[in-house]
Formats: sequence, C-alpha cells, structure tokens
Amino acid sequence: MIEGVIFDLDGVIVDTAHYHYIAWKRLASEFGVTLTTQQNELLKGVSRMRSLEIILELGKIHLPEAEKVALAKKKNKWFVEYIEAIRPEEIFAGVPEMLANYRSQNLKIALASSSKNAPRVIELLGIAHLFDALVDGTMITHTKPDPEIFLLAAKLLNVSPDRCLVFEDAEAGVEAALAAGMKCVGVGSAEQLGKANYIVKQTADFDLAILNKI
Ligand code: BG6
Ligand code: MG
Repeated sequence: MIEGVIFDLDGVIVDTAHYHYIAWKRLASEFGVTLTTQQNELLKGVSRMRSLEIILELGKIHLPEAEKVALAKKKNKWFVEYIEAIRPEEIFAGVPEMLANYRSQNLKIALASSSKNAPRVIELLGIAHLFDALVDGTMITHTKPDPEIFLLAAKLLNVSPDRCLVFEDAEAGVEAALAAGMKCVGVGSAEQLGKANYIVKQTADFDLAILNKI
C-alpha cells in the first residue's frame, strides 16, 4: 500500500536536466572533452562534484582539488544564469494536476533532488505548496545512488520506506530508490532505466490506478 510519493526534480518535474547538460557540455568543451547525451546519463542524479569527476575521468584529466572546485563553481554560475529564465509554463504537462490529485487521495508528496539549486527552481516555478516535504542537495552527505536522500524524504513524510513510490529519470536515482526499499517509476527509456518497477515516457503518463499493483 503506497502512502508517500517522492519526486526527483530535474527531468521529472521540469526539464532543468537539459540546462545541467548544456552547462556541463560547455565546461567539458573548454578542456577538449565532447560530452555526448549518452555520457550525460552518468551525470544525472549525482552531485555537482561527482558530475565533474565523471567528466574528468572521461577525458582522463587529473586536476588538483582547488581547480576542480573552481570548475564546479563556473558550471554552476552558468546553470544559475540559465535557470533564472525558467517560468511555471515549463513544468512538464500534467504534473501540477497530478500532484494536486495525489494529495486529494491522501497521499503524502515529497521532492528529493540532489541539486543545491532545487529550492530556487521550485520558487521560480511557484510549486512549493504542492509538496509536504522538500529535500535538496544541501541536506545530504551521500549522493544518489546512495539511498540517503529518499530515506530522509520518507522520514520527513513520516511514511515507512516500503510504502513510498519514487519518480526518477536518472539511473543513479532508480538505484537509490530501490536501495531505500522503495518502488520506483522510471521516467524515460526502458533501455536506460530498466531496473525501475515501471517505466513511463513522461511523468504525468503514470496512471494512479496501477499505484498499488507495481
Ligand atoms: C541533480 C541533477 O538533480 O542535481 C544533476 O540530476 C546535478 O545533473 C545535481 O549535477 C546537482 O545539482 P546542483 O544544482 O547542486 O549543481
Ligand atoms: Mg533527475
């Protein structure tokens, strides 16, 4: 019996995953790495610093810690510039209605994003009131695929992890949800998110009628 539903943000509520990608691609190109969309899948869901380390590993580049910190800061500056222009119209079709509908069915709703920019994105989109709990990248020690972020969200919702369902677009996020003992809906391709219990192309495609059957 599902009592809590936990949503990732980037790529599940809004297409900020694309802004992360273009900012990382821009940074990678500065040191001669062409970041492909396939490689970008590895960056989804993990922390800013882990994303940078993955790009450096792809390019077989070794840098001192201080330089890595400066590069991560540079990428974030671009990302923040990109997201300042986002508007509520960019929320994926049907998602606000879906959240309101879930709440009207007495389900508790949380947001669990690895992004330290999540509070700003939620503010720009004007959807904070749709969630009972918010967990962002500033509140966790271990990044997805570690289950910490989802376990914290369940705790804040006061729902047992085995009664939570997670929506995720990242492979690392699907792994984190399953490691937390939760059910997971993958938003994207079965090829990428095959470990999820159920796959939808878009978040709002998920039918509440099958909630307790997966
Ligand atoms: C996740 C994204 O939600 O947040 C990652 O999927 C991103 O791509 C991570 O790197 C960290 O985000 P931020 O905004 O703290 O750099
Ligand atoms: Mg995501």
